[in-house]
Amino acid sequence: MISLYDAPTAALSCDVGADVLLVGDSMGNVILGYDSTLPVTMEDITRHTAAVVRGARGSSRPSVPIVADLPFGGYTGVELATRNAAALMRAGAHGVKLEGAGPSVLEAVRALVEMGVPVVGHLGFTPQSALRFESVVQGKTGEAAARLLDGALALEAAGCCAVVLEVVPAEVARRVTEALSISTVGIGAGPGCDAQVLVWHDLVGLTAGPSLRFVKRYADAHTLLKEATGDFVSEVHAGAFPKPEHGWEMDEAELRGWMPRDGSSKGGEHQDG
Ligand code: KIV
Repeated sequence: MISLYDAPTAALSCDVGADVLLVGDSMGNVILGYDSTLPVTMEDITRHTAAVVRGARGSSRPSVPIVADLPFGGYTGVELATRNAAALMRAGAHGVKLEGAGPSVLEAVRALVEMGVPVVGHLGFTPQSALRFESVVQGKTGEAAARLLDGALALEAAGCCAVVLEVVPAEVARRVTEALSISTVGIGAGPGCDAQVLVWHDLVGLTAGPSLRFVKRYADAHTLLKEATGDFVSEVHAGAFPKPEHGWEMDEAELRGWMPRDGSSKGGEHQDG
């Protein structure tokens, strides 16, 4: 699973064999410039879901499933959850993801499943409730691990088709995976999950600054793209771009017949008549 937000990255991820695309609310941190996922709105997720859907459809594997995140505050009751999930499904998503396993979340999951919407749960470090956590790694004590397992089982019983496990000890994720019949998708949860997810910008090294421990950078896109952008700016400043091959010539005869007005200059006065 790859979390991404736009058409070209969706297309290339489908082309290389990604099994599921996630339109994650991590877009808040990654591309919208917020310092959390909390400000991300339904409008944001819907627009980016539609873009990802277009990208996937134009790829060599147009039927790769796309899951869209329900944003913070977007599933606080059954009515809101079903309305928002319907909007994301209309935008082309094949399922939605929501965080936590509290009573109202479980109620929302049941209503969505009854409505025919595949639902992915999300436990462990859940960014929408990050302010509540004292540390990033979740499920470190026996009691916390038991709570995590109970939550995962409750999500399964409510009808979820998969659960993301974020930043939990590898052994806990492995045991939760063994206890569930639905798939687990790990991020910072070790190799014992059924699947793995990373944010595309993280895995290609486009995110600036040091990456989190669970991220593996498969490229240094930030350096590459910064250098390319710098080269463009420098060449324009130096007059080295564009060159004749980047533009078009006017026909000689047309050029000779065309009489620009004398004295016309950028921002200068025009002589009419
Ligand atoms: O928002 C997101 O991208 C996610 C994944 C990191 C699981 O929730």
